[in-house]
Amino acid sequence: MRPPAYRLKGQTLHIADMLKAQPRHISFHTPGHKRAGADITELSYSDCLAHPEGVLAAAERDIAKILGAAASFILTDGSTSGVFAMVYALRAAGATSLAVPAFSHPSVWHACGVMGIKTHPIPQITRFGIPQQPQEEDIAEALAQADALLLTSPDYYGNFPPLAAARRLADGAGKPLLIDGAHGAHLHFGELYAGRYADLWVDGVHKSLPALTQGAVVSAKEPMWAEKLKKGVLTFRTTSPSYPVMASVEYAVKYPRNLAVEEASEAFKRRHGCLGNRDWSKILIPFASPCDAQRYLEARGVYPEFNDGNYLMFYLSPCTKVGELKKLGRLIGGLPLGEVPQDAPAGVIPMYSEEP
Ligand SMILES: Cc1ncc(COP(=O)(O)O)c(C=O)c1O
Repeated sequence: MRPPAYRLKGQTLHIADMLKAQPRHISFHTPGHKRAGADITELSYSDCLAHPEGVLAAAERDIAKILGAAASFILTDGSTSGVFAMVYALRAAGATSLAVPAFSHPSVWHACGVMGIKTHPIPQITRFGIPQQPQEEDIAEALAQADALLLTSPDYYGNFPPLAAARRLADGAGKPLLIDGAHGAHLHFGELYAGRYADLWVDGVHKSLPALTQGAVVSAKEPMWAEKLKKGVLTFRTTSPSYPVMASVEYAVKYPRNLAVEEASEAFKRRHGCLGNRDWSKILIPFASPCDAQRYLEARGVYPEFNDGNYLMFYLSPCTKVGELKKLGRLIGGLPLGEVPQDAPAGVIPMYSEEP
């Protein structure tokens, strides 16, 4: 198993470089495939994720700097473990209740359940067939009854909560703001990035940046949260982190912005009657028959992220090629668009409605 060929111009990739420079050796260590290569375990030279002092410490330091955090922790088990770590930190700070949007991801409800945090759901309505982000007044009302606030930003449909208002409300009440950014890691270059507003936040690096599946990062804005968050990370993260995943997280966070594809995505949305949102990485097309459109596209080798019964959703990243978007545009040219639904027809998602 050879190390992955990670390379980024002008960037030091601590983990990937260590993997490439490894001595060939006989493996009397895990994993059991015994093919020492990229998929190694924590060895004398490869550092230790729980108590990093070498390449992993250097990678986490760089990541924190890029994301504007006091401390960032690499996760190899998805944003889920980051959400659990954030809720753990909150509990360690003495919080016993949390205001959360009604359509939060199951990991949020599960973490609160496991840690005995009482949830105050913030109402969300469904419009255009999709769950809308909560309104400022509803956030204020729920936060008044809770010790902290957790928002999802952006959601799976590329919509954002009122981030600046949420920060003001949290500051006004002296309560922490947590953000589940499972779909927002690609935003760290700009104004809509969770890390500009949150005390604690998770980046689902594997979803919208070029990291391997399950690669994520959880971060604390201020040092006062970092220790508590670290305890949460150590409680819920695997003790056998995957080096290919960790190397890919460092690579992905350092990956350059791709303005060409961002602009092409916005132009595509305008040209093809897509649902409006503020996230270039999520394109929602209201086909008259999403199932027929999906079958048509897949038969031609084009796979969307999901079909929710109203829309096909196409998930982009900085690695999407403008030519691929053009191809999508050509293919959908002949497919009829549907009415944008005004409210949710029976049987159609909200995506995350697993409040226990
Ligand atoms: C909003 C949101 N939060 C958290 C998660 C969990 O992320 P992961 O699958 O990386 O654990 C997801 C996954 O889809 C999600 O959509």
